Amino acid sequence: MIAPKIKEIINSKGASVIRKMFEEGILLKKEYGDDNVFDFSLGNPDLDPPKEVVDAILEVAKDTTHGCHGYMPNAGYPEARLAMAEKVSGEQTVKLEEKNIVMTVGAASALNCVFKSILSSGDEVIVPAPFFAEYRHYVANFGGKLVEVPTKADFSLDVQAIEKMLSLKTAAVLINTPNNPTGKIYSESDIEELAAALKKHGNSCGRMPYLICDEPYRAIVYDGAKVPPVFPKYENAVVVSSFAKDLSIPGERIGYIAVNPKCEDSDEFISACTFCLRTLGCVNAPAFFQKVVAKSWNAKVDYSSYARRRDLLMAILDKAGFEYCRPQGAFYLFVKVPSRWNDDDSAFCDYLKKFFILSAPGNGFGKKGYFRLAYCVSEKTIVNSEKAFIAAAK
Ligand SMILES: Cc1ncc(COP(=O)(O)O)c(C=O)c1O
Repeated sequence: MIAPKIKEIINSKGASVIRKMFEEGILLKKEYGDDNVFDFSLGNPDLDPPKEVVDAILEVAKDTTHGCHGYMPNAGYPEARLAMAEKVSGEQTVKLEEKNIVMTVGAASALNCVFKSILSSGDEVIVPAPFFAEYRHYVANFGGKLVEVPTKADFSLDVQAIEKMLSLKTAAVLINTPNNPTGKIYSESDIEELAAALKKHGNSCGRMPYLICDEPYRAIVYDGAKVPPVFPKYENAVVVSSFAKDLSIPGERIGYIAVNPKCEDSDEFISACTFCLRTLGCVNAPAFFQKVVAKSWNAKVDYSSYARRRDLLMAILDKAGFEYCRPQGAFYLFVKVPSRWNDDDSAFCDYLKKFFILSAPGNGFGKKGYFRLAYCVSEKTIVNSEKAFIAAAK
């Protein structure tokens, strides 16, 4: 018998709306042709992996050293951990070592390892909304409660609102920047303010929350924007990330956890995450791709085609009269549902389907009255969608 709580989730209307939309898209394309369906439902990066990744794949494939496919230390190969330490040291402007890293099965498994490591039943994780919909499940997996705190109108952090929700139950605050679904980068001053609020709270109650930074889109930024580091501002900080989006290898399931060396229990934190990776059944991150990313993590990738697509889609939305906040990174536009729909984003996304526009309703991301368009699709799809958006807006 399937556990009632899982049964409830898989049979609920909201279960995997995005996946369902994506699958409907495949059927529609078969019937009406690829050029006539505008599928903005899924965040599947469509750049090819860079040459450095392909070269590394070929090089690693040639390795026939005895034992090269064997088990390894659960936290990963030393060379992969060392490479990630170098990567994160550069991004965070704080020196990390191999011992501060655990290689994981994508950012999803990194988050699950972190939550399994830190959550006791009833503990809370505060998240600014909108947020990546899977967080709900990841936190619930370990008996935690996701506490959603709305961002400001421009999707920047509302630190005062977060501060009000801090309590002895707060295990962590989870931020994702650049953000899925809004493309917002939380500013340095917002991070500073958040860090100050967390320190004040932790010092007064004796439980210093972790600040978990989910950063798979860190490299995909526009107009010269930079993602501010968190480690110099807050000691109990952890970065989780992957190469799914920046190197376009989401199917290869390779990511990592990086803990601030100054975190109060950094060594124990890594031991806990390593144990949790093992006992969640992953055992270790994929061996092959640990070796690949150890060689190719600093590949130069040109993201300008995402910027172009963002601009093309924004121009179409402007013409059609939709409202949105200009994304600073990632490859999503989070668009306001026209007012006559009374914030019913699910109904509006269903309506868009009549025009062969596939999108994701905002309520899944914790924000009613919006819909998400993933513009990691061909320029042709975007250009061809203009008439459909204009017709839908009428
Ligand atoms: C914000 C965010 N976090 C985590 C993930 C999961 O990434 P991965 O495929 O590396 O597990 C995604 C994937 O879309 C994401 O958008």
